[in-house]
Amino acid sequence: MSDIQGLERQIQDAIAGAADEAALEAVRVSALGKKGSISELLKSLGAMSPDERKANGPLFNTLRDRVAGAIAARKAALEERALDARLAFERVDVTLPVRPESVGTIHPVSQAFDEVVAIFADLGFAVAEGPDVEYDDYNFTKLNIPPDHPARQMHDTFYVAKQADGSQHVLRTHTSPVQVRTMLKQKPPIRIISPGRTYRVDSDATHSPMFHQFEGLVVDEVTHLGHLKWVLEEFCKAFFEVDSVVMRARPSFFPFTEPSVEWDLRCDRSGGQIKFGQGNDWLELAGSGMVNPRVLENCGIDSTKYQGYAFGGGIDRLAMLKYGIPDIRSFFESDLRWLRHFGFAALDIPTLDGGLSR
Ligand code: DAH
Repeated sequence: MSDIQGLERQIQDAIAGAADEAALEAVRVSALGKKGSISELLKSLGAMSPDERKANGPLFNTLRDRVAGAIAARKAALEERALDARLAFERVDVTLPVRPESVGTIHPVSQAFDEVVAIFADLGFAVAEGPDVEYDDYNFTKLNIPPDHPARQMHDTFYVAKQADGSQHVLRTHTSPVQVRTMLKQKPPIRIISPGRTYRVDSDATHSPMFHQFEGLVVDEVTHLGHLKWVLEEFCKAFFEVDSVVMRARPSFFPFTEPSVEWDLRCDRSGGQIKFGQGNDWLELAGSGMVNPRVLENCGIDSTKYQGYAFGGGIDRLAMLKYGIPDIRSFFESDLRWLRHFGFAALDIPTLDGGLSR
């Protein structure tokens, strides 16, 4: 009996003294392992007389349970201590200034993206989004471009393999399908801006197979082309950070608008720098028009009651103009030196009151 107490004290001391998990495991093996001291005691029960076994069995078993419990508790404590030590070791002081060589920058396209959103949000537009992989139906058919319509050839489309149910998906060729998505789930009044990635089979100094557009849509009972012109003018003044701009309207054609208008911005390119509101050059800005009543009807909106205008333009182009970047492909080459030169400070989020591109 006293032997057992002595043995337990000795094991408990070893458990308490185990400095790490490996030392604790050694104690466990020496007590509870196949040839451990307690395992040997339990084995010895087999050779005892029934009376001895009756007396010793419960003693040995509770000894085993107490030791196993003590080992588990010590193990948990050691694990917690190891975790605390690791957390203390891996602690990072987030208030330390970043090393100059590791400072990241905001890509000029992301910057222009955020500027467009900030300006239109200020004009009361909400941001709407849609997927890059779009239904052919939303990208074309509901926008009044049925299959075999010649306007489909204007969009050099990336087609995605047909779905099991026979439906066709495409990489969206413009942000206009977000108009469809918005009208299908929201009743007028609608006032949204939708910036996003778009795709066309095209690549040269001014075209990239993946590029960015912004789409605007306003639908209510009274809105008209005059509102559209004002909104685009306000946008240009804010985006190019000038007090006045001169815009020119050209009649155009888009299947989803009637009438359709393309807008140019008066600019001066002499002297190597582009200036707005003066000069004799014109810069293409955006396509637009009054939403074709057929598109409203395709999207479940009563065209006898509601009318709307829509517009769409390229964000990469806007960024190239504003920041003097000559080749669109340089946007997507991931050249760190280029990014450091043209990038923007990460914490300077564009706002109208804080300055857009400071
Ligand atoms: N989706 C057209 C394009 O990619 C741009 C556009 C033109 C959008 C007229 C519009 C619009 O919303 O009304 O070329």
